[in-house]
Amino acid sequence: MAQFSKKIMITGGAGFIGSHVVRLFVTKYPGYQIVNFDLLTYAGNLENLRDIESMPNYIFEKGDITDEKRLNELFNQYHFDAVIHLAAESHVDRSILDPLAFVRTNVLGTATLLNVSRNHWKDKYEGKLFYHVSTDEVYGSLGEEGFFTEETPYDPRSPYSASKASSDHFVMAYHHTYDLPVIMSNCSNNYGSNHFPEKLIPLMINNIKNNKPLPVYGKGANVRDWLYVDDHARAIDTIFHNGKIGEKYNVGGFNEWKNIDIVHLLCRIMDKKLNRAEGESAKLITFVKDRPGHDLRYAIDATKLNKELGWKPSLQFEEGLEKTVDWYLKNEDWVNDVTSGNYQKYYEQQYAKR
Ligand code: NAD
Ligand code: DAU
Repeated sequence: MAQFSKKIMITGGAGFIGSHVVRLFVTKYPGYQIVNFDLLTYAGNLENLRDIESMPNYIFEKGDITDEKRLNELFNQYHFDAVIHLAAESHVDRSILDPLAFVRTNVLGTATLLNVSRNHWKDKYEGKLFYHVSTDEVYGSLGEEGFFTEETPYDPRSPYSASKASSDHFVMAYHHTYDLPVIMSNCSNNYGSNHFPEKLIPLMINNIKNNKPLPVYGKGANVRDWLYVDDHARAIDTIFHNGKIGEKYNVGGFNEWKNIDIVHLLCRIMDKKLNRAEGESAKLITFVKDRPGHDLRYAIDATKLNKELGWKPSLQFEEGLEKTVDWYLKNEDWVNDVTSGNYQKYYEQQYAKR
């Protein structure tokens, strides 16, 4: 049996960001054993990892982070040295439709995982690490100016961000109360391949392609700070290996965009790719009722991560968006698979009355 120098459970590894993190760790660290623990909800898809699924250091285990018994069995079986925790309900609009699902997974699930990790590691914390992946949305909403730093007080405003904020507090509470070795990062909006088409960028790409209305909430004036998903995965790798126990790190793209400007940029890119006349796709733009409690602006100050650990984003936004569009146009089957069935029902509920 192969001897591994580290055994890591990655939760949510079949999702958007998780699959990029799993791929990076499996391919970059053949000496680590990577166990992907995922419930395979609507957002989890093992197709995302087809290319690495037969690697000898990769294993998939299906399960729920709220299932203490199952987690205990896996800790007994694999003797994990570390957990990288990404599993979550991640879509703000869904959290408005069904907040308690977010409390269950994001709060109860994270607390259960912390508890199991503590119970298995408490006799010897040395060499152990609980890495929690969180979001910039816990900081609330910015006005026209300023940035979120690691010291910005928490001010979550949606059920999603409230559930993530709560999970962050549990992580820090386990560190302060029980000395559990933890690290946390709070990242801005990611984009790239394998992003579920309920989120702004893949939803717009899919609708432009299918000549469907492009539903821009409110006036499209809300601002997000976009980071290419592989750059986030690299940040997690850097922080996991070099970050300081008990600390948190902000991760961001230094790349703020108004929603409406992104939609126009995507329309221009897709007009070219689909051989449409310039301006044709933009005719699909439809302003719809705003998201309740819609946060105006997010912008991350990632100076700490840059200065202390040397990380910075590698890709320009236009280049990253073009790569992303190419991936979606080439992977029609993936899009068709994930947008069939239940997704249709969600889409109806979310957009029908707007
Ligand atoms: P995602 O929705 O694409 O994937 C979530 C994954 O978690 C899926 O594979 C799903 O099957 C799994 N999962 C859900 N509930 C589970 C449960 N109870 N037990 C086990 N697995 C479960 O999410 P994402 O966009 O990849 O986000 C991953 C993490 O990164 C989340 O914690 C999110 O809060 C955080 N984050 C996301 C972004 C972003 O822009 N997408 C930015 C910052 C932080
Ligand atoms: O900031 C990090 C967060 O980014 C992550 O923690 C979340 O998991 C992730 O979903 C994302 O949240 P947002 O709410 O910012 O992302 P979303 O893609 O849903 O929306 C981006 C912006 O686009 C937001 O201002 C709402 C707007 N929007 C979104 C959709 C789906 C529209 O105008 N129309 C749409 O149809």
